[in-house]
Amino acid sequence: MKQWLSETWTARAQLFFFANGIKQLVQRPRAIIITAIYWTIVLLLRWWIIKDNDTLEWAARLSNTGNAGLLIVIASAIFIVFVFALGKPKGAGQMMRDSMRAGLVNHAGETPLLMEQRIDENEVFTLVFRNFGIPLSHWNDHKEDIESGLNLNITDICERGKKYMVVTAVSGANILPNFVEWKDALLPTDNFVLGLGETYTGQVRVNLAITPHMLIGGSTGSGKSILLKCLLMQCVKKGAEVYIADFKGGVDFPRVWHEKCTFITERADLIEKLKQLITELHARKTMFSDMDYANIDEYNKQGYNRLRRIIFACDEVAELLDKTGLDKKQKDEISQIEASIATIARLGRAFGIHLILATQRPDANIISGQIKNNIDYRVCGRADDVLSQIILDKTDASDQISKSAQGRFLTNSDILFQGYWFDDSSFEGEKEYGFEYHFLGD
Ligand SMILES: Nc1ncnc2c1ncn2[C@@H]1O[C@H](COP(=O)(O)OP(=O)(O)O)[C@@H](O)[C@H]1O
Ligand SMILES: [Mg+2]
Repeated sequence: MKQWLSETWTARAQLFFFANGIKQLVQRPRAIIITAIYWTIVLLLRWWIIKDNDTLEWAARLSNTGNAGLLIVIASAIFIVFVFALGKPKGAGQMMRDSMRAGLVNHAGETPLLMEQRIDENEVFTLVFRNFGIPLSHWNDHKEDIESGLNLNITDICERGKKYMVVTAVSGANILPNFVEWKDALLPTDNFVLGLGETYTGQVRVNLAITPHMLIGGSTGSGKSILLKCLLMQCVKKGAEVYIADFKGGVDFPRVWHEKCTFITERADLIEKLKQLITELHARKTMFSDMDYANIDEYNKQGYNRLRRIIFACDEVAELLDKTGLDKKQKDEISQIEASIATIARLGRAFGIHLILATQRPDANIISGQIKNNIDYRVCGRADDVLSQIILDKTDASDQISKSAQGRFLTNSDILFQGYWFDDSSFEGEKEYGFEYHFLGD
């Protein structure tokens, strides 16, 4: 049955390729010109063969007509091959077989069909597939099968309308570098965009105005602290006010950090600081709604008393939120911290108050759903299945990042990247903003 299904599908698929060939032909002026010249030559030839028919014997005339007919049959066959060549890109047949083998099929056993393959000047491939109702999630699950089938590294899969799936990829020979050093030239100029690292096709960025909070996961030594610091350094360079909760005594943060950021090292202090941030959040909220501004960027556009974005960061958020072994009073304190962080997660975006949190503890109780569900941008470094599942809601980081990788991360939108290596010494130097930012809490 399965065999029969796949055979009829292989046959029916040819019709799609042929139809696609005609579509490609009509869309390409060059192909239209070649077709026109080709058929003109064929018809001229036919005319030349039968041009003397009027004056010939009937037997010669019949043979001439036969030759002319044969010419048309052969010319048509060549033309059909040409249309197929246009409609069925290299690798399309192999891709069908690979999809079948890997189970990338719909309920009727139909595989996607590769309809178009383009490559741009940066050697980035764009593959357009005719899709027969296979959901995007299923495509993502089969990413590695598609990659090995086509010898490509996929950078993105997205839907185009209901019928097409567009896959962006680079050659399988491309490999991600294991080391990319941060330089100030890498700082994105747009407000408020941060660079995380490099993927196959360029810089991975996050725009905090759109995805306001980040959660970084990964086991010890995966590169979380370096990524977190690289992001916080960029925030400082862009003029944000950075608060860092660090109960480990600041060993991870050399002196330069203490000059540029505010450190919180005790629980009581943390409760107080978070309360201040919530007060600031509500003050901004009231002011924006009184003055009819939708968000901090719109407010800042008017040019005076500009507000700074505020970043609350923590390198091991489990330390702030772990309740094990605590008495009732202490548990209440933790609940207050949790509630404040959840409020920022929920409301912070429009008012420019952001969370950048990291964790290595694969413990679902530590980061409540309230906080996690409001953090849209999540990245996970080297991790086991449990940690990857907690951070990304899938085990992909454990599958795709090797156990020896450092600074290699996967985002929850499936982008694999090498984070910038960042050395604290490159944090020296101050950027001029032209005027002072105003902070309502001051
Ligand atoms: N982006 C990176 N590129 C290359 N090596 C890195 C990178 N980030 C971290 N490392 C290496 O991994 C080690 C551990 O990094 P760290 O950020 O302290 O990990 P974590 O905080 O997850 O325990 C670093 O000392 C460094 O040698
Ligand atoms: Mg660390």
